[in-house]
Amino acid sequence: MGALTVLGIETSCDETAAAIVRLDRLGARPAILADLVRSQIDYHKPYGGVVPEIAARAHVEVLDRLVAAAMETAGLGFDGLSAVAATAGPGLIGGVLVGLMTAKAIAAVHDQPLIAVNHLEGHALSARLTEAIDFPYLLLLVSGGHCQLLRVDGPGAYRRYGTTIDDAAGEAFDKTAKLLGLGFPGGPAIERAAARGNTRAYDFPRPLLHRAGADFSFAGLKTAVAQTVRSLGRAPSPGEQADIAASFQAAVIDVLTARTKAAMRMFLDEGPGAVPALVVAGGVAANTALRGRLNTEASAQGFRFVVPPARYCTDNAAMIAWAGIERLGRGLTDSLDAPARPRWPLDEIRAGQGLPHQMGAKGPKA
Ligand code: KG4
Ligand code: ZN
Repeated sequence: MGALTVLGIETSCDETAAAIVRLDRLGARPAILADLVRSQIDYHKPYGGVVPEIAARAHVEVLDRLVAAAMETAGLGFDGLSAVAATAGPGLIGGVLVGLMTAKAIAAVHDQPLIAVNHLEGHALSARLTEAIDFPYLLLLVSGGHCQLLRVDGPGAYRRYGTTIDDAAGEAFDKTAKLLGLGFPGGPAIERAAARGNTRAYDFPRPLLHRAGADFSFAGLKTAVAQTVRSLGRAPSPGEQADIAASFQAAVIDVLTARTKAAMRMFLDEGPGAVPALVVAGGVAANTALRGRLNTEASAQGFRFVVPPARYCTDNAAMIAWAGIERLGRGLTDSLDAPARPRWPLDEIRAGQGLPHQMGAKGPKA
């Protein structure tokens, strides 16, 4: 295999991103030649969440220039690329179309292979961009749109041990922050407020904690927080904000840790290879308290614990370029009629407990 240099494009939610990653030979450490992310947070802030039409238009406005800037940063012309990779779903369809059509145009004009990347696969493989880690590994993917435990055997080879039956963990952080008047995005705001609060001030529920399997649920927790805030009969004081945030975050961490523990046992039962590893990805992986707990639990079970640096945990295009390299290196490319997909589960098998999926407006995207 010669050197592979791939342009990655990410537009599935509220970050417009373009990156270029190069792999000189199999087994080498990849080089990130350019890695640009434009957040749209300021456009969505007034609405307390991501507005799909605003997102799509904002992607259109900046993507061309962002791609050009990434090429310039890498010191490359389009002919220096081996392939173009773009997120083809799951995500907000308007934004996905913007990125995928741009990638198709570049691929068509420069006669290069197109790789239509599943955004979840981008997150799933991102640990291999920054760490030397072999397949298989156990992945906890926790973001605003996704909350899943997966066994990762390689590109395209995933098995889901558990998923959320209602909200994603990041969504629960965002909604709780909104209830508390802490602003958007909620995760960092909750984490900051929680640092000043008492985790035992409120006894919030830990849904599904004692159920078999590794599925999650956060809707009941969100409702409990809403009731608590309502029962105050006024806006929470800074002290109440801190205590509710701390108690909420503790409940989320308990649930995520317990379900991950169950998944670690499922992973070991299948014969994991020499040193099993737990990888955490997605925006919620930025939470320091969560990382600490998962790290402790992973060590107790004999798992190596891997979290990509924060900027590769949240949405970015380097992970899309890298997923492109992983696929290209295995001869996996797509035709120019590859569809944009609002929903696109990573696995075909659902290893849950037969609980129904509820697809909310911003519910689990898979
Ligand atoms: O992966 P990501 O950037 O986008 C999605 O694909 O959803 O994740 C964003 C999510 C948001 O819900 C945000 O509130 C959450 O990650 N998040 C956090 C923290 N930082 C970001 N949640 C908890 N603690 C944090 N420090
Ligand atoms: Zn994401």
